[in-house]
Amino acid sequence: MPDKNFIYASSIHGLMPSVTERIQSLKKEKDVLIMAHNYQSPSIQDIADIVGDSLVLARQAITVEQRIILFCGVDFMAESTKILSPEKTVIHPNIHSKCPMAGMVDPEELEKMKQDHPGAPVVSYINTTASIKCLSDVCVTSANAVDIVKNLDAQEVIFVPDVNLGMYVQRFVPEKKIHLWPGYCHVHQDITTEQIKEARREHPGAEVLVHPECTPQIIDMADAVFSTEGMLRHVQSSPKEEFILATEEGLAYRINTVVPSKKTYPVTINTVCPNMKKISLEDVLNSLETLLPTIELDDDTIACARAPLDRMVEVKRRG
Ligand code: 13P
Ligand code: SF4
Repeated sequence: MPDKNFIYASSIHGLMPSVTERIQSLKKEKDVLIMAHNYQSPSIQDIADIVGDSLVLARQAITVEQRIILFCGVDFMAESTKILSPEKTVIHPNIHSKCPMAGMVDPEELEKMKQDHPGAPVVSYINTTASIKCLSDVCVTSANAVDIVKNLDAQEVIFVPDVNLGMYVQRFVPEKKIHLWPGYCHVHQDITTEQIKEARREHPGAEVLVHPECTPQIIDMADAVFSTEGMLRHVQSSPKEEFILATEEGLAYRINTVVPSKKTYPVTINTVCPNMKKISLEDVLNSLETLLPTIELDDDTIACARAPLDRMVEVKRRG
C-alpha cells in the first residue's frame, strides 16, 4: 500500500520546501526530538530521531537531552513519556491516535478484581491509561513481561489488560497463578492459523516471528516470539535470510531500513493498526509549528502512575 504521506511530500517537491523539509528545519530550529513507534508509517519513521518498541521509547524518554519530545505513537505511549519525564513538554500530534486495548480496563472493575485477590500485585501492560497505572504495582512491555512476573515476590498476580500476553507469560511462569483480564489487541488477535500456514507455503524456509499479543494458537506455530524491537534484533543476529512477521505491518519497513540485506514478509498486508497510522506528516508539521497538542497530567496522577513505570525501567532489558 503506498504511503499517502510520501505521495503528498513528493508531489509538491520542487515548487516549495516539501513537508518533510519543513519538518526537518523546524525540529532543528525548535530543538524538538521526534520519537516514533515501530508501527508508524514509513514517512513518519523517516523523520523520527528515535524509532523503537515501547520499552526502548520509555527508556529513551528519561535520558534524551531535548526539552521537547514530539511522540508519534498511540496515546498511552505519549502519556508514559510525559509520566517518565514530567519536566519535558510532550506533544502528541494526533489526539485521535488511541490504543483500543488500553481502553479495555475500567478502574472500578480493576478495584473489584483487586478485592477478589487481596495481596496479588497488579502487573499492567504499558498499554494502559494513567489511571490504571495508578492502580498498578509494576508495568511491563512485551519485551520484559516474562522476566518481571517471574521475579515478583508473589504467588498470585493480576495481569491487565492483554489476555494473550498474560497467557504467554503464564507458559514461562507456571509456578505463579496469573489472574487474567479479557482485553486484547484486535490487530494481533485477528491473525489466523491459516494466514501463518499460507505465509509459510509462500515463503518456505522463512522463520516465523510472532508477537506475544497473538493468540496461543499462533504462538504455538512460531519459530520465535519477540517484542517488535526483539524481532529486529533477532533478524540482525540470525544466520537466516527470510522472516515472516506476525505483527503489525509497519515493523517490516523498520527492519528493512536497518537490515536491508534480509527479507521480511508481513504475515498479511492487512495486519494494520489504524490507530497507529492516524498520525500524518501534516499532523507532525502542524505540531512543530504550534508545539501543540501537549500531554497534560496533574502532579498527583504523574506521581502515582510513575511508580510502576519506574519499577519497570529499573529492570535490565534482556530481549
Ligand atoms: P512493542 O513494540 O513494545 O512490542 O508493542 C507492540 C504494540 O502493540 C504496541 O502498541
Ligand atoms: Fe493497541 Fe494493538 Fe494498535 Fe498496539 S497494535 S496500538 S496494542 S491496537
